[in-house]
Amino acid sequence: MNFSSDTRFHRQLVLFNGLLPALLILLDGLRGKLGANPVEFVTRATGVLSLVFLVITLMVTPLRKLFGWNWLLKQRRLLGLFSFYYGIAHLLTYLGFDRDWKLQSVPADIYKRPFIAIGMLTFVLLIPLAVTSTNAMIKTLGGKRWAQLHRLTYVAAIGGVLHYYMIVKSDISYPVLFGVVVALLLGYRVYVSLRKPTKSAA
Ligand code: HEM
Repeated sequence: MNFSSDTRFHRQLVLFNGLLPALLILLDGLRGKLGANPVEFVTRATGVLSLVFLVITLMVTPLRKLFGWNWLLKQRRLLGLFSFYYGIAHLLTYLGFDRDWKLQSVPADIYKRPFIAIGMLTFVLLIPLAVTSTNAMIKTLGGKRWAQLHRLTYVAAIGGVLHYYMIVKSDISYPVLFGVVVALLLGYRVYVSLRKPTKSAA
C-alpha cells in the first residue's frame, strides 16, 4: 500500500483522531468520570482541542514544504473544521454551564473577565474561515483573496494563545509552549514570503 497517496485512509485517520477526544469526553461524562469539576474539565478540554487543531492546521504548509508531505494538504480543511467544531463545543459549554444560558449576563462577563473577550474575538475569526473552507467558496473568492483571508488563521492562533495565557494563574508553561510553536510557524511563513516575494506560501 502506498501510504502517501491513499487519500481515503488519510481522511479516516484525521476523522478518527478528530472525533476520538469528543467520544472519550462523552463516554467519561456518561460514566461520571470527568473528575471533581466536570464543567471545568469539559470547558478546558474543548478549548485546548480547538487550539491544538488550529495549530496543526497551520503546520500543514511547513510540513509539506520541509518534508514533502503533500498528502496533508487535502486534509487541511478537515483539520481546520475540527478547530471550529471544538470552538463551538467550548462556546456552548461556557454559555450553558458557566452562564446557565443567561445570555444577557455575557456582556458583563466580557467586561469583568477580559480573557472572555479575547476568546470571543478568536472564535469570531474562526467563523469566516470555516464558512469559506468549501471548494465553491475558494472558487467564488479566487485563490489569492481566499489565501489572504485565510491568513486570519494566524491571528486566531495568536488570539487563542493570548486567551490561554490570560487564564492560567501560576504555571504558564503550556500557553508559552503554544506561543513558541505559533511564533515559529509565523516566522517560517514570513521567511518564505521574504524569499519568494511574488509567490504565496499558503
Ligand atoms: C467562544 C468564545 C470563548 C469563550 C467564551 C471562552 C471561554 C473560556 C473559559 C470560561 C475557559 C475556562 C477558564 C477557566 O477554567 O478558568 C476557557 C479556557 C480555554 N479556552 Fe476558551 N473561550 C472561547 C474561545 C476559545 C477559542 C476560540 C479557543 C482556541 C482557539 C480557546 C481556547 C481555550 C484554552 C486553550 C483554554 C484553557 C484550557 C486550560 O486551562 O487547560 N477558547 N475558555
